[in-house]
Amino acid sequence: MSKILDELEERRAQARIGGGQKRIDAQHAKGKLTARERIEAFLDEDSFEEFDMFVQHGCTDFGMEKVKMPGDGVVTGWGTVNGRTVYIFAKDFTVLGGSLSWTHAQKIIKIQDMALKNRAPIIGLFDAGGARIQEGVAALGGYGEVFQRNVLASGVIPQISVIMGPCAGGDVYSPAMTDFIFMVRDRSYMFVTGPDVVKTVTNEEVTAEELGGASIHTTKSSIADGAYDDDVEALLQMRRLIDFLPSSNVGEVPEIETYDPWDRIEDSLDTLVPENPNKPYDMKELILKTVDEGDFFEIQESFAQNIITGFGRIEGRTVGFVANQPMVLAGVLDSDASRKAARFVRFCDAFDIPVVTYVDVPGFLPGTDQEYGGLIKHGAKLLFAYAEATVPKVTVITRKAYGGAYDVMASKHLRGDVNYAWPSAQIAVMGAKGAVEIIFRKDMDDPEKIAQHTADYEDRFLSPFVAAERGFIDEVIMPKSTRRRLARALRMLRNKQLENPWKKHDNIPL
Ligand code: HXC
Repeated sequence: MSKILDELEERRAQARIGGGQKRIDAQHAKGKLTARERIEAFLDEDSFEEFDMFVQHGCTDFGMEKVKMPGDGVVTGWGTVNGRTVYIFAKDFTVLGGSLSWTHAQKIIKIQDMALKNRAPIIGLFDAGGARIQEGVAALGGYGEVFQRNVLASGVIPQISVIMGPCAGGDVYSPAMTDFIFMVRDRSYMFVTGPDVVKTVTNEEVTAEELGGASIHTTKSSIADGAYDDDVEALLQMRRLIDFLPSSNVGEVPEIETYDPWDRIEDSLDTLVPENPNKPYDMKELILKTVDEGDFFEIQESFAQNIITGFGRIEGRTVGFVANQPMVLAGVLDSDASRKAARFVRFCDAFDIPVVTYVDVPGFLPGTDQEYGGLIKHGAKLLFAYAEATVPKVTVITRKAYGGAYDVMASKHLRGDVNYAWPSAQIAVMGAKGAVEIIFRKDMDDPEKIAQHTADYEDRFLSPFVAAERGFIDEVIMPKSTRRRLARALRMLRNKQLENPWKKHDNIPL
């Protein structure tokens, strides 16, 4: 027996070494952890149960029969994050660059199927060069099966991807179909084809960072939802994210104990909105002052900063926040902001996370740039997302809610459950200047009359009361009591039941 046990230990040790000490050292020299070290940093201590450690590829082309590496370039299994089950796979770059063979794909598929069957989140740690070139169509087929499962699991269990090294081909397409992608700065890249292929095909010279680094994907392409300085920070932040998420679309959001009183009054919010309606203020301050313990996990922090999206908690339960940011482009809705917020609202709706919307929006951004870029279609995404969402929706208008953007931002008309306004709210088709120029064009040469019309317009429309008179606003609230109001509203909505008509699926403008 002891011989068998020794052999097991020996085989395990051989598998754990992956592509060998030299490649592990090279991995460390690049500032990266190995696949197993990453799993260890992410999961609760000693909770990892590995599967398929001894799996070997079956390829015999291009001398591959001589290349035998137990585990075949990916470490898979399950463990816990703060006690909750999570499935995990981590690409092992030291084994043929983490590339995916047929058997490597079968390991991932096994984990995907288990995660879906057992309704628990799955996280993929990517550091890999896509389909294993030596395997040809077998590798492509393997990817196809991974993609198919990504799609079937979408909206059922949270799927998270962390890009921790150079990733290409299937190792960017599979993450692209998951809910969130995070990257590690200066050492992770995502591209369909790398700089060498780009040079050959288009003659364009570009570095890996310029083509697909975290700086590009968090600010320009919006492929990535966030980036961190190193592996450990990224993995610790992923643990934080998991704590915000339910295990599946039928699981409740986790309840985290909080010592922050639900009825905490924040006097400083009474002076958050400046007297001058054109002066910006930081909407993040409102979010941070209303969530439990100021703990807010922002999604897409560096992209379309005119809208803020992220998770916080009220009374220990997760809430998705969407908020216009007056500090950036006056909080206007443009194509990027609309797409960003639409995707976030749809995630929340799929996973039964209530949405709180803070509104200060002067409208949609005008101009050829936006119109040619499809503003109508992109703006419609956000409208569509809010309108189809059946989760509890609580809205607070802090200042401007102008034009179509008023409708879009979780208004009463899109089945907003509780719609509050601060006394500083201005709900109208447009601001006073634009409105007067259109409806009193005949008086434009008479400054006195124009001043009077402007004052009349401001009196009548630039307040929350016209909307409140119609019942479009349920209550005008004191800014300082926003947290208390939200807590009560969300508590009241806990058993909300609302179903959309049966359909195969909707046809959201893509
Ligand atoms: C087999 C691979 C590989 C691959 C890397 N390696 N990618 N082996 N198949 N796809 C091996 C290398 O031969 C090398 O082996 C080791 O991994 C490390 O690779 P390096 O090139 O030395 O590392 P680096 O310079 O950091 O570059 C990493 C890389 C680059 C950017 C990922 O290797 C690369 O561009 N690889 C090819 C990417 C690609 O085109 N993949 C196919 C995509 S198609 P040794 O033995 O020297 O250590 C695809 C289809 C899916 O995925 C469908 C999509 C819809």
